[in-house]
Amino acid sequence: MNSQWKAPAGKIIVALDVPTRPEALRLVEQLSAQISIFKVGLQLFTAAGPDLVRAILGTGARVFLDLKLHDIPNTVARAVEAANELGVHMLTLHLSGGRAMMEAAVAARNDSLLLLGVTVLTSMDQAALRETGVETELSQHVLKLARLGAESGVTGLVASPHEVKVLRDKLAAQIKLVVPGLRPAGTEAADQKRVMTPGDALQAGADYLVIGRPITGHRDPVEAVTRICDELSR
Ligand code: C5P
Repeated sequence: MNSQWKAPAGKIIVALDVPTRPEALRLVEQLSAQISIFKVGLQLFTAAGPDLVRAILGTGARVFLDLKLHDIPNTVARAVEAANELGVHMLTLHLSGGRAMMEAAVAARNDSLLLLGVTVLTSMDQAALRETGVETELSQHVLKLARLGAESGVTGLVASPHEVKVLRDKLAAQIKLVVPGLRPAGTEAADQKRVMTPGDALQAGADYLVIGRPITGHRDPVEAVTRICDELSR
């Protein structure tokens, strides 16, 4: 990795939530001096596929492949092998897929792949959870899934900013906490309901900060990253 990628920029993962390969590569090119990890999610991966991931990796950056896998253990394990092969650095899976699915995924991963568990989607509230048959109180359910993930050997968790502190306190220190839903002071929350500033999330115990629109939607993404880094240094 490039030696200029130091903390705090090394903590930032830029979410490439754009629909096409050229838009994604333009952002990677613009930000490559500051940012070392880019997140490719379902929209971009479905549109532009593994070739785009290879192109991003070819610039020297790392890729967080946010596919939120949830299937039978064998299928998930084979997908993890494909991600190993592709050379991505982080991959997500749903912890609600259960212990056997996670253990199969953990057994299939190579050492350089961080497997990150998703607990309860932040779009779910207590009523939505109940509709799926889960009666447990939401924050308890998050903790229960997080513990199951840690026991099953996942490397880390995707956590909402407001869950970070509790998860950091309750889970082993080596569990990485990757936190989206962040808004630098003075920026639009848009559809994110319960946001936090990047600085507060780091203080609460986040290891990585996932930031999309405050950077990718800024008229000058480089300036947006510089400002966030200034805030983090303070
Ligand atoms: O643009 P914004 O900063 O809101 O992007 C946040 C990114 O993190 C998006 O890619 C979104 O899908 C992802 N994410 C999230 N909340 C979660 C899990 C993932 O916002 N609970």
